[in-house]
Amino acid sequence: MKSTNQYLKPLSLKVNENLEIGGCDTVELVEKFGTPLYVVDEYTIRSICRDYKEAFKAYENVNMMYASKALCTMATSKLLASEGFGFDVVSAGEIYTVYKAGVDMSKVLFNGNNKSYDELSLAIELGVGRISADNFFELALLNEVAKAQNKTIDILLRITPGIECHTHKYIQTGHLDSKFGFDLTQVDEAVELIKNDYTNLKLHGLHAHIGSQIFETSIYGDEIEILVKEIARLGLNEINIGGGIGVKYTENDCPPSVYDVAEIIINRLNECIKKYNIEPPALFIEPGRSIISTAGVTLYTVGSSKQVPNGRKYVAVDGGMSDNIRPAMYGAEYTVQVANKPDVQNLQKVTIAGRFCESGDILIKDVELPELEEGDILCVYNTGAYNYSMASNYNRVPKPAMVLVNDSLSHVIVARETLDDLISHDRISQ
Ligand code: LLP
Repeated sequence: MKSTNQYLKPLSLKVNENLEIGGCDTVELVEKFGTPLYVVDEYTIRSICRDYKEAFKAYENVNMMYASKALCTMATSKLLASEGFGFDVVSAGEIYTVYKAGVDMSKVLFNGNNKSYDELSLAIELGVGRISADNFFELALLNEVAKAQNKTIDILLRITPGIECHTHKYIQTGHLDSKFGFDLTQVDEAVELIKNDYTNLKLHGLHAHIGSQIFETSIYGDEIEILVKEIARLGLNEINIGGGIGVKYTENDCPPSVYDVAEIIINRLNECIKKYNIEPPALFIEPGRSIISTAGVTLYTVGSSKQVPNGRKYVAVDGGMSDNIRPAMYGAEYTVQVANKPDVQNLQKVTIAGRFCESGDILIKDVELPELEEGDILCVYNTGAYNYSMASNYNRVPKPAMVLVNDSLSHVIVARETLDDLISHDRISQ
């Protein structure tokens, strides 16, 4: 069955005279809120959440933990919590955001390869449900923090399963030479330390994450095999398989259906339960991108353009690498449509450039679009994940606003930064 991550555009998108998302006319959104503008479609988020829940319902003990790093705002956290999701968080900032959004902290898992004493203290104080320990240094630190608060804390060990997936090397994490997690050969030593020395830690299971924007389904089966074999050997009862399911940025992308991935995971899990003769373990899954990417688009206003004699035509928009670093950082490709003339056919090839002082600030290369004029609105699809969450203030440009749309209503969920926001942390020494 097709799942929401396999669509390129938000599910509520309509092509009228202008593009419409969540029942809201995009040109009206721009008039009201300005550009660049992140627009997030609630219906698409709820739809992928339902896909995940439906796809995994055949396994009784499954826990969906949204990976906040993809997009972390109070409003989206609240929305995802209302769908029954827990949260994977990786910093005090993400912990604080979900806490302030009213999330049940027992459904929060704290990850990361270098969590600080203060971050761990905050996590424990606020009662996060699980902490994933990434390395020996962290095990010792965690025990120290737990002791200081006189608590026993529930942990997982993050391991490196030694699986290579075919994705951009910056977002591969499961291969052996990785900065994340314990090597499998170090697990026994870690378990012994917990048992004998780190008495404020209670180990429940193992955690792994093999990469991001993954299109292959079979590697999830391989990951399950490794994790279950290990927990069976160690007498543990939880596995966390991380996230990674891909999305469709362009027509050429064929991400897998969540239903197919779930089938592979559950079948392999059931096989392994028999093979290793264990009670069914609790399964945790941490999707980020596939939950939030398709729901988001970015609207930009066209400004200057330049025809290189005998070369490319560049059309510049009022955003770029500070609101979407992915093309510059990973060579990521995106799909764009003209929001105020989606149906016009006199196509010409242009390159969409950002407004930042960097030659690499190109959003989309060589795309066929209707002839563009100053003031046209471009809609870039699939920007819900790792766009706002990786945004910067390069060139001292304020970060865009974000609006959540649904049922013809729009709500600002992140206000546009102002010039005063930009200098609010500056101090002039006397
Ligand atoms: N769990 C762990 C432990 C992770 O490290 C990640 C992502 C996830 C879950 C969620 O993975 P997802 O379902 O979103 O693929 N900035 C990069 C992506 C980095 C992903 C890092 N870890 C990008 O823009 O493509």
